[in-house]
Amino acid sequence: MTKQSGNNQNLDLGVYPSISDPLFKKLRDFIYVRTGISMKPHKKVLIANRLRKRVRNLGLSSYDEYYNYLIENEAIELENFIDSVSTNETFFFRGKDHFDVLSQFLLPELFRKKDRINIWSAACSSGEEPYTLRIIINDIISSLGRGVAKIIATDISHEIIEKAKTGIYKNYSTRFVPSATLKRYFQKEGEVYKLKEAVKKGVQFKVQNLLHDRPPDNNFDIIFCRNVMIYFDRKTKQRIADDVFAEVLQPDGYLFIGHSESLNYVSSRFKYVRKLNAPVYMLK
Ligand SMILES: C[S@@+](CC[C@H](N)C(=O)[O-])C[C@H]1O[C@@H](n2cnc3c(N)ncnc32)[C@H](O)[C@@H]1O
Repeated sequence: MTKQSGNNQNLDLGVYPSISDPLFKKLRDFIYVRTGISMKPHKKVLIANRLRKRVRNLGLSSYDEYYNYLIENEAIELENFIDSVSTNETFFFRGKDHFDVLSQFLLPELFRKKDRINIWSAACSSGEEPYTLRIIINDIISSLGRGVAKIIATDISHEIIEKAKTGIYKNYSTRFVPSATLKRYFQKEGEVYKLKEAVKKGVQFKVQNLLHDRPPDNNFDIIFCRNVMIYFDRKTKQRIADDVFAEVLQPDGYLFIGHSESLNYVSSRFKYVRKLNAPVYMLK
């Protein structure tokens, strides 16, 4: 790829780079088709900021050039593109109500009926959510004295899945972990917290695109898919809830979504069940 100039968006001249409206529309359409994420117009600056490093690293001089590069080299660039534009905000014990409802009601109820349960943390980002699940389930299993839980965690981003596998976190991620839990399941090394091997080994990570790839298994008792559907439009939410989750959730299983998300008037296959303050869904 040759470096071109003659474009106002030259990234090396110190000019604040911007993405033109027509290019933003092309990028939005591309993101929507590949990931299901529906980018609002006010996200243009955010996307420019996130892609700037990638454009520079490739030695390109404009976002237009980058778009052409992406289209021509999709097989090799798509992964980097998705890594650059996805929002990975997460932390341990995020949405505490969900973990309370699980440990107080749903897990004891499920373990009364069966010895083995299967859990999917979909769109898991850097692993804090599935590892929180592993921690609370380990505690339940030791207090019950029996039970096995398999946890599979998936995300569209290769980079974030590699980070999740390391099990190494900064204080920001662990800030809501109760101190006894921190002591029991983490090893502090300098500025970072390292998850103990037993927790790390208890989560299986995989790259998976909710929109285009098969689910990682076909019989889940619990599915967590939190704080990602907020980026999807109604049609995509319905497709993921009704054609993906409803197909692999057990009839007595539970689907957890984020506190600011809802499947009411979206899904025809799920019903809302109120448990503490947590938005939890079951199949109709
Ligand atoms: C804000 S994080 C949510 C993490 C975690 N579930 C939580 O609630 O803390 C959203 C994640 O969704 C992932 N994501 C976005 N589109 C996706 C798709 N189509 N398939 C799978 N994961 C996707 C992103 O890579 C990102 O890691």
